[in-house]
Amino acid sequence: MTHMRIVSGIQPTGNLHLGNYLGAIRNWVKMQDENAAAGGDTLFFLADMHAITVYNDPASLTANTREMAAALIAAGVDPAKAVLFNQARVPAHAELCWLLNGTARIGWLNRMTQFKEKSGKNREGASVGLFAYPVLQAADVLLYQATHVPVGDDQKQHLELARDIAAKFNTDYAREVFTLPDPIIPPTAARIMSLRDGSAKMSKSDSSDMARINLSDDADMVAQKIRKAKTDADPLPEDPALLADRPEARNLVGIHAALGDETAADVLARHAGQGFGAFKPALTERLVETLGPIRTRFEALRAEPAEIDRILTTGAARASALAKSTLEATYAALGLCR
Ligand code: TRP
Repeated sequence: MTHMRIVSGIQPTGNLHLGNYLGAIRNWVKMQDENAAAGGDTLFFLADMHAITVYNDPASLTANTREMAAALIAAGVDPAKAVLFNQARVPAHAELCWLLNGTARIGWLNRMTQFKEKSGKNREGASVGLFAYPVLQAADVLLYQATHVPVGDDQKQHLELARDIAAKFNTDYAREVFTLPDPIIPPTAARIMSLRDGSAKMSKSDSSDMARINLSDDADMVAQKIRKAKTDADPLPEDPALLADRPEARNLVGIHAALGDETAADVLARHAGQGFGAFKPALTERLVETLGPIRTRFEALRAEPAEIDRILTTGAARASALAKSTLEATYAALGLCR
């Protein structure tokens, strides 16, 4: 069997929260561990070059990049098992993006739903970078001959574009320069909702901090947020189907289940008949058990920016080495003299 080459990125937009952790990061850690044991390579990066497609305060971008790196490591991303870096330290991403701009079609990019959403009614005022965002994302994975790209459902279209670009390039220049990557959309990815509104996703941009649990929240803060989380007056049922019309109750049960790698039915088997006065403390205990050690590591690392930079610089050197042959093959295929 050929080895897997797993590549994924995340925008350094600030603090990681429970939704990121249970939805994506925990899965990254699992894949990293399995792939390291199987002898494959795993690369994770902070997409700081994507972040500048909208205005970002420069000092905040620097701080967020370090903070996100610290949070990932605290959550279990292990620089000894996965190559961890930020895009800006590996110029090959920007180089390959430019080379692929000759292959990507305006018509393809026009169909990207994320661009339509982010640019909204002000398409003419959006940056060229925001439009070309998916080409950089294609470069991110094609650069490393990625075979598998773990992403959320919302990134599936960008991955398909990366495949289209790779296939067209290989055809146009009549050589197999790029591997067509497959998305891995984790079927079990927990969808964690806001603590204030069970129909909205838990988000770092929610104006109320009470709506989310940050990886930096201490035990008291977690307890307070769960105590104040919106619920209803009914006791918990035994049948998960009966939570269908109770989004807040369903979310809290879902969080409890995700934390213990259980189903909602497993959790309800233990807690059916209880009201939230009893359920919330149990949930808090689980949260603190999982997040406590992550927070401790996060705070320790956050106090050492030089150590974070050292890790990212080491990762960038390893990534650059892995990128070199594909980047050179792309220049050569295009007939560019070096
Ligand atoms: N666009 C992705 C997101 O918003 C982040 C990202 C950038 C990415 N480059 C990538 C994800 C390459 C996977 C592979 O979530």
